[in-house]
Amino acid sequence: MRGIVAERSLRGSGVGPAPYNRAVNTDPQLPQKVILDGDPGLDDAVAWLLTLASPEVGVLGITATHGNVGLPLTVHNAGVTLALAGEVGAAVPYFAGADRPLVADAVTAAAIHGDSGLPAAGLPQPTRPPEAEHAADFIIRTVQAYPHEVTLLATGPLTNLALAFRLVPELPQLVREVVWMGGSTAGGNRTPAAEFNALADPHAARIVFESGVPLRMVGLNVTMQCVADPERIAALRGLGNRAGEVCAELLTFYAGVYRERYGLSGGALHDPLAAAAVIRPDLLDWQPMRVDIEIQEGLNFGRTVCDLHGVTELVPNARVAVGVRDEAFFALLLERIEALP
Ligand code: RIB
Ligand code: CA
Repeated sequence: MRGIVAERSLRGSGVGPAPYNRAVNTDPQLPQKVILDGDPGLDDAVAWLLTLASPEVGVLGITATHGNVGLPLTVHNAGVTLALAGEVGAAVPYFAGADRPLVADAVTAAAIHGDSGLPAAGLPQPTRPPEAEHAADFIIRTVQAYPHEVTLLATGPLTNLALAFRLVPELPQLVREVVWMGGSTAGGNRTPAAEFNALADPHAARIVFESGVPLRMVGLNVTMQCVADPERIAALRGLGNRAGEVCAELLTFYAGVYRERYGLSGGALHDPLAAAAVIRPDLLDWQPMRVDIEIQEGLNFGRTVCDLHGVTELVPNARVAVGVRDEAFFALLLERIEALP
């Protein structure tokens, strides 16, 4: 019998993570507990809407990091995304995290995501401010409250996760898994060698990849196969709801840059594919692999060096996406965005 208990609110008790964002059922098959960490960024926002709208997942909180735009904007955009999500985002707390990389100089991607990071008109304002607690502390507290149950879905530089892992060295053993949109088994997008999220904090990426945490990497080699072309943008707009309209507007801005820079028919759905990898891992093909992050300055700085053929004979530290069922992925995205207001 799936009893439904009142939504858990642990915030008042001062222990454990902030309230679960939907009624918690008593069935042992609880929705997967997830923390969303990213740098919205328009594709982060679409990924977060997809995740919030998916009943397989319970979002415990959102942690913003530097990346596509500066931290004040990514925090604001996290609040905007939660407001866009409506009821399913109403109880989800959000947190400010790192405002710069651990060591490297900061890089941003306003050319891709616009100066605001969410280039769309008529967006709602956040309905509440971010929590006072630092993102890394929230990640620590939540993973410790739910050992082996929390998935960290990271769609930006890995600075917040690296800080949490450095503050509590045993934390990686308590995380269910990290699913990261980042890196590539082939070339980069910000440099010929490096994908943006990896380049934006290579030292943080190295900390996470060497932490022993269970880790899946969704890199450019699959995300660039998932393009929001004009037909897909029209399908989102055709949903007739605000979420569909906003996604269509964001992806229209995005398409122009991708057409110009990469000759694609639209923007690559990088972060939404990483979200889909949490919701439906079967939509991608996975290969265990040793992945190292280049932190030496130079042409390969920030490169995810993927040992595709096991030539190093090093133990794999990640499962890397090497194939994707793009049509089924987009069908999932469309179906879930339709469920939002
Ligand atoms: O390289 C693509 C990644 O960099 C995406 O996560 C995008 O949002 C940017 O952060
Ligand atoms: Ca991102």
